[in-house]
Amino acid sequence: MSATPAARPPGNDKAAYVRDMFATIAPRYDAANRAISIGMDEGWRRRAIALLRAPHDGRIVDLCCGTGDLVFHLLRTDPSLRVTGVDFCEPMLARARERSLREVAGSVEFVESDVLQLPFADNSFDGATMGFATRNVVDIDAMLREVRRVLKPGARFVNLDMSKAPNRAWKACFDLYFYGIVPLIGGMVSGSREAYTYLPNSLTHHPDAEALRERFAAAGFEQTGFVRLMGGSLAIHYGTNP
Ligand SMILES: C[S@@+](CC[C@H](N)C(=O)[O-])C[C@H]1O[C@@H](n2cnc3c(N)ncnc32)[C@H](O)[C@@H]1O
Repeated sequence: MSATPAARPPGNDKAAYVRDMFATIAPRYDAANRAISIGMDEGWRRRAIALLRAPHDGRIVDLCCGTGDLVFHLLRTDPSLRVTGVDFCEPMLARARERSLREVAGSVEFVESDVLQLPFADNSFDGATMGFATRNVVDIDAMLREVRRVLKPGARFVNLDMSKAPNRAWKACFDLYFYGIVPLIGGMVSGSREAYTYLPNSLTHHPDAEALRERFAAAGFEQTGFVRLMGGSLAIHYGTNP
């Protein structure tokens, strides 16, 4: 496992860089997340799951599941769901499997895979979620097409991630926190200041909320939209597979 200096742009091998970075911070990822979001991420995740409108007993895939936060929220919301978490970083999945033994009852499995090439048949799932990961994926358009491929007709994809606040004054305040304080807190809690310098920086070249909604539509999703959270510093995007 290599700990490449994270402030440096990942360059061509972004996927390997991202995987190694998450492998480094996996043991302290949950604690760092709670500290950075001051515990508010729990409420954001609940909003995202409400927007999924998952059918009772439905089969749901959580993409880039990491240590399983959204997976466990889904199952706590509706224990009848059958949830598959997918991530390409085995140490994050190992932590998710550990947590699943004590945190939830229900149907859950974790699969190691790149979300750009999912090991599932077409039309497999009744819904898909993704949390705080779009910025890390090398090719967002290819990812959106792959999500559509594995969704059944009428199923929704809901994506929660950081975004760009439209109000310049609020964005400036939030940026102070995000680019200035997050690397300090994340670094202290996780032990990797580099990772928590890369993670905020990954937002810089990310599309704003409307541009990301357009990418959903261009990938073929219908009834696309988004909900801004925290004055637009976060957004939940959604779209329905026709
Ligand atoms: C910031 S974490 C988010 C984890 C979790 N979804 C959450 O809400 O806490 C991003 C995760 O995306 C995973 N990831 C990034 N790119 C990926 C890809 N192309 N395929 C699969 N997993 C990926 C990383 O390994 C990491 O676990």
